[in-house]
Amino acid sequence: MNIVITGASRGIGRELIKRYLNRANKIYAIARDEEKLKELKKISNKIEIISLDLANLDKVREVSKYLGDKEIDLVILNAAISLPHSPNFTPFEDFKRSFDVNFLSIHALLEYIVPSMQKRKRGKIVFISSLASLIASPTSLPYSATKRAINSYAQSLRNLLAKDNIKVINILPGFIKTDMTAKNNFYMPFLMELEDGVDRIQKAIEKNYKEYAFPKRFYYLIKLFTFLPLNLQDKLLQNLVK
Ligand SMILES: NC(=O)c1ccc[n+]([C@@H]2O[C@H](COP(=O)([O-])OP(=O)(O)OC[C@H]3O[C@@H](n4cnc5c(N)ncnc54)[C@H](OP(=O)(O)O)[C@@H]3O)[C@@H](O)[C@H]2O)c1
Repeated sequence: MNIVITGASRGIGRELIKRYLNRANKIYAIARDEEKLKELKKISNKIEIISLDLANLDKVREVSKYLGDKEIDLVILNAAISLPHSPNFTPFEDFKRSFDVNFLSIHALLEYIVPSMQKRKRGKIVFISSLASLIASPTSLPYSATKRAINSYAQSLRNLLAKDNIKVINILPGFIKTDMTAKNNFYMPFLMELEDGVDRIQKAIEKNYKEYAFPKRFYYLIKLFTFLPLNLQDKLLQNLVK
């Protein structure tokens, strides 16, 4: 099995690499941090490191072309940035960078991989969205928006590629202990250990769940919230802006 994983240097991506190492022929590990990538390379010669800033969309398209003839079986689109929560209107540059890294890079990376999967009539594409995609938080404008865009993209892609026997899986995790959450200075309900979170992500990938949100109790609370009248939702959300 040939696998591509973005956000490979830390957190969820790095843990996923460890989990898939046994079963993989080759893992293409994408991130920016050269030191962390070199450490990965030392673990196994099955890992090919690709140093890439996903905000550089032209470079991402070049990497996609390179991967297009590598017979990729599984792509895990895991990399993302989350700006610190802020009550201020997001500066344009930060907003653009979030969309480039979290969303546009996905289509750029898939540009040559999807046609190759279509030709071979096999493949699996995994998105790591977030429960944050279900609530449009006023203090994380770009993150919520990019993750909600992923939900839409994943559903479109799943139904576009069903005829080609390509599985598309969208995973919506709650809070997991990584560098991303370490910088949050607010209470994170149902915060999970990294291993626990990645266990669930891996299960969703293995079992071909079309969409998988976890932990369930947090997911149901959020769903309940989304059924409230919009006026009440807005009132509650406005409490987050101090
Ligand atoms: N942790 C959570 O609670 C949580 C909850 C819901 C969803 N998620 C999602 O899970 C995924 C992984 O999150 P995580 O918690 O593992 O985050 P993390 O520890 O902050 O790791 C993020 C990864 O993305 C890579 N990355 C960031 N910007 C990049 C760029 N411009 N170009 C290339 N790579 C870039 C980082 O590598 P470099 O810095 O080396 O480039 C790193 O490997 C994300 O999609 C996140 O939104 C996380």
